[in-house]
This record gives sequence, C-alpha cells and structure tokens, in this order.
Amino acid sequence: MNETTMPTKDEMSSTLEFFDRNLRDGFDWSIQQEYPLAMNEANLNNFRIIKQGDQIVSGAVMKMHIIKCVMGLFKAAAIGSVVTSPEHRNQGFSQKVLNDCIEASEQQVCDFAILWSDLYDFYRKLGFELAGTEVSMVINSEMNSQDSSIRIMKSNKVSAEALLKVYNYHTTGTIRTVRDINAYLQIPNSNVYTAWDKNNQLLAYAVEGKGADLTNYIHEWGGMVTHLTTLFSHIRKEKQAPITIIAPSNAQNLIRTMKQFDVTVNYGFLGMIKILNYDNFFAKACRYARNLGVEGFVLHKEEKQFLIGYKDKIYQTEHETDITRIIFGPQSEDALKGFDPETRKVLDQLFPVPFWFWGWDSV
Ligand SMILES: CC(C)(COP(=O)(O)OP(=O)(O)OC[C@H]1O[C@@H](n2cnc3c(N)ncnc32)[C@H](O)[C@@H]1OP(=O)(O)O)[C@@H](O)C(=O)NCCC(=O)NCCS
Repeated sequence: MNETTMPTKDEMSSTLEFFDRNLRDGFDWSIQQEYPLAMNEANLNNFRIIKQGDQIVSGAVMKMHIIKCVMGLFKAAAIGSVVTSPEHRNQGFSQKVLNDCIEASEQQVCDFAILWSDLYDFYRKLGFELAGTEVSMVINSEMNSQDSSIRIMKSNKVSAEALLKVYNYHTTGTIRTVRDINAYLQIPNSNVYTAWDKNNQLLAYAVEGKGADLTNYIHEWGGMVTHLTTLFSHIRKEKQAPITIIAPSNAQNLIRTMKQFDVTVNYGFLGMIKILNYDNFFAKACRYARNLGVEGFVLHKEEKQFLIGYKDKIYQTEHETDITRIIFGPQSEDALKGFDPETRKVLDQLFPVPFWFWGWDSV
C-alpha cells in the first residue's frame, strides 16, 4: 500500500490532472505547457506518484539534463512539481516520492540532483543544500542604451536554430536541441525579445516570464554584452517598471557592465543541490584538478566520511552538504576557514565550479 510508482501511459492524463489541480488551480493553461520537456509522455519514466485506491495523492517529476561547464559534462536531475494533495499531507508521502526520485536519479547515473524551492528545511532532511550562485540584477530606471542599427522584435515566433546558436556561446549551460527550444518557445505567459542586425542575423535574445512564475524576470538570455544591454534597455523602457535579469556569477562582463547603470545587484543561491554518485563526480573533479596542473588534490568518499585536501593535508567531514557547498559555492569564509592556506588556495582555484542551470530548464 502507498508505494511510489511510475504512472502507466493510461495514467498520464490523470497524473497531469493531479498536478494541475494541486499546482495550477485557477490558471487557464496546464502545467504541461510550462514544463514541456518534463511533463511529457516521452519523460514518463521520470514521473513518480503515490496512489490511494484509484486516487493520486502525491507526486513529483524529474527531468535529466546534460550540463557543460569547464569541469566537463555533468548529468543532472532537476526535480520539480513536488506536491501532496492537502488532505494527505504530513504522512510521509512527499519524502517517499523524493527518496524514490533520488534513487532513480542515482540509477540513471546523474552526478547531482537540483531543485528550486524555498522549503529549505524540508529538503535538507533529504540531503539537499542551498548551493551555487545566482546573481539577480534589478534595473531600477531606464538605461538609455540604444543602438539604431539593431532591430528589436518581441515575438516567440523566432528561429529555434538561431536561438540555439546564440545560446551555445555560453560556456556553461544545458545541452539543448532545436526541438527543445521549439517546445520552450510555446511556454505560456512568456515574452521572447530578440535583437537582429541589418543582415537579419540574431545578435541577442532575452526571455521574460515563464507560466505562473518569473513575471518581470529575464531568466534566459544570450548574446554579446553590448547587444544584451540594448535589449535590456528596450525591455525596461517597454515595461515602464523595474525588471530583473538573472545570471550566473561567471557572467562577469555582463555584471560589470550592468553596474554602470541604475542597477541593484543581489547575490543568491542557485538552488538546492544534492550530489549523487560520489565516485563518478569526485573523479571528474580530480581530473579537472590535474588538467589545471594541480597534482595531489584529494576528494574521495570512504564509507561515511568525505575526504578532501591537498597532498598530505587531508580533511574529513561526514556532512555531504559541506562538500556540496565547497564544490558549487558560494564559498563563504566559514566554509573554508578550517583549511590550511595551501589547501585553501587549491580549493579557491578549483571551486566553485562555474556552472549554470536555470531558466527554461527549471522544473
Ligand atoms: C511540501 C509538501 C510537498 C510536503 O508534502 P507531505 O507529503 O506533507 O510531506 P511529508 O509528509 O513527506 O513530510 C512532511 C514533513 O515536511 C515538513 N513540512 C511540510 N510542509 C512544510 C513546509 N511548508 N516547510 C517546511 N517543512 C514542511 C513537515 O513538518 C514534516 O516534517 P517531519 O517529517 O519532520 O514532521 C506539501 O506540503 C505540499 O504539497 N505543499 C504544496 C506544494 C509545495 O509547496 N511543494 C513544494 C514545491 S518545491
């Protein structure tokens, strides 16, 4: 009774109806339209539900992504739409569903799982920790960064190929196909702004809003900084209200440029992260260290202990969340204060891993 299962094909519509009823009540679109890659029959093996009799009472959805960054390729499980119907809460259903999601992600050889939530304590019990960095830049007043040679368009009827080409200039992000982008372009309540040159080449793009979330937030963007500022300036003017750009901390050039305008910059966490398949993950980190010419870096799990250090100075912790924070950041003084100066220097050189996973891919 009350076991976590994967819905069958026949249960797909009642499963979507369960998520809609509990997470999108009163909206005139289905949650499936907001998360077209996750809430999709092709992704059925990554749905988890608990049924009581014929009724679905709890569920969650995973979407696996490949992420590129300087450290190499990672496989990550994004977990979302975690929900239990109100009359069945506090009976351990969501924890059960989440544990099953974690196990499935491990089996699918994911390096880590990530979710976006403000229920920190709920997810900490399952080993997730706030980690990674998200920079939000609030454009308080008009920017007046114009370029008359650039044509700006507001329409989601744009070439996915052109968007993908610009997106792929990012040094970190998920691996996407033209099909993925075409699906993302259909998300309701989302404005796609694009900047074109005189030869109709796409220079930059920015996406504001995403279904029930992110109104007045630009959560997706690509292109060179000069073209992006022209685009942001246009959007700010059109909106006649502050807008917020969300960016990874490695977008240094953009952040520096935006600071020249009337912009408030805030640093926050990217999400709640749990490392999975430690051996795999740590082997990638050690290989990255060697590629950077750092010989003698140690990151290893031995039974319940995590070992991290440099040459003969090895430190131990049994808290996986300590390691998550060191690897993904943000690295606070507190997290590093116990290390000797030489090891600290190595950790500073290697971590946090500059990576980004958000926007259209969040679930
Ligand atoms: C959060 C939610 C998914 C929990 O589902 P659930 O089946 O009741 O969860 P479980 O019974 O497995 O776990 C309950 C535990 O979570 C804790 N919890 C429940 N709601 C919480 C909240 N809002 N904040 C922090 N902890 C919470 C309970 O105190 C309990 O802890 P305990 O086991 O130490 O007593 C459910 O309340 C829900 O569907 N909320 C609305 C949708 C939502 O917010 N989803 C999260 C989106 S990321």
